[in-house]
Amino acid sequence: MAGLRAAVLGARGGIGAALAAQLCADPAYAEVWLGARSPLPAIAPSARPFSFDSDDEASLAAAAAAIGGELDLVFVATGLLHRAGLPQPEKSYRALDPLAMAELYRANTIGPAMIARHFLPLLPRTRRSAFAVLSAKVGSIGDNRLGGWHSYRASKAALNMLIANFAIECRRTHPQAVIVALHPGTVDTSLSAPFQRGLPDGQVQPPAVSAAALLATLAQLGPEQSGGLFTADGARLPW
Ligand SMILES: NC(=O)c1ccc[n+]([C@@H]2O[C@H](COP(=O)([O-])OP(=O)(O)OC[C@H]3O[C@@H](n4cnc5c(N)ncnc54)[C@H](OP(=O)(O)O)[C@@H]3O)[C@@H](O)[C@H]2O)c1
Repeated sequence: MAGLRAAVLGARGGIGAALAAQLCADPAYAEVWLGARSPLPAIAPSARPFSFDSDDEASLAAAAAAIGGELDLVFVATGLLHRAGLPQPEKSYRALDPLAMAELYRANTIGPAMIARHFLPLLPRTRRSAFAVLSAKVGSIGDNRLGGWHSYRASKAALNMLIANFAIECRRTHPQAVIVALHPGTVDTSLSAPFQRGLPDGQVQPPAVSAAALLATLAQLGPEQSGGLFTADGARLPW
């Protein structure tokens, strides 16, 4: 299929930039809309940079209007685990801080939900399309054996629930849509950098390897898998 249109939101991030580069290099995509908080360069003839902030709903409405028409693929690659000025991810309930918790919920749950509010309507109703968000395996309640990172885990668990809900809601209007949460693996980006020490050799992947696996897995998923949480290599994780 040629002439496809995609959007990557969070295209400056480690994984988002790798997804953007691979979609821009794919001749099937005529347009790849690349969203970031500050303007990105047009990295290819198909690249269509735009600015947005998921905390600013007006910027999402303006971006969706500027894109206009249908999108075959929407990839949400935004998210937050830590930043300067925030406490480290919590190892105990004693470390919970309401402001830090609210910030992680805003970045990992509410922001992607607001992106969905403005971008799900751009999915075509009569052919296959995909809306994928980068979640995290640690957001799986069923897979949680280690605990810790309370706010990050909880914000991703809530994101997984929203994806399950959006899939149910869109099943009737968009029967061929694939709406999923994806775990990218442990990827060498600024998000994971402070937590890579002690990990086994080979566990941390380059962003390009993760992005290629994510796109290949997404291409294999069908509407019957909509609402699920999947690893980059295609395994379904429990919610
Ligand atoms: N790296 C891993 O090992 C790993 C593992 C599991 C899950 N994930 C998930 O994968 C996703 C991408 O992670 P990454 O490793 O690529 O991290 P990253 O390099 O830090 O990228 C995150 C991106 O999110 C953007 N962002 C944050 N808040 C935003 C907002 N309000 N509006 C617009 N953009 C916003 C950031 O924008 P700026 O560039 O403007 O700051 C940044 O580009 C995250 O959801 C993360 O939780 C990553």
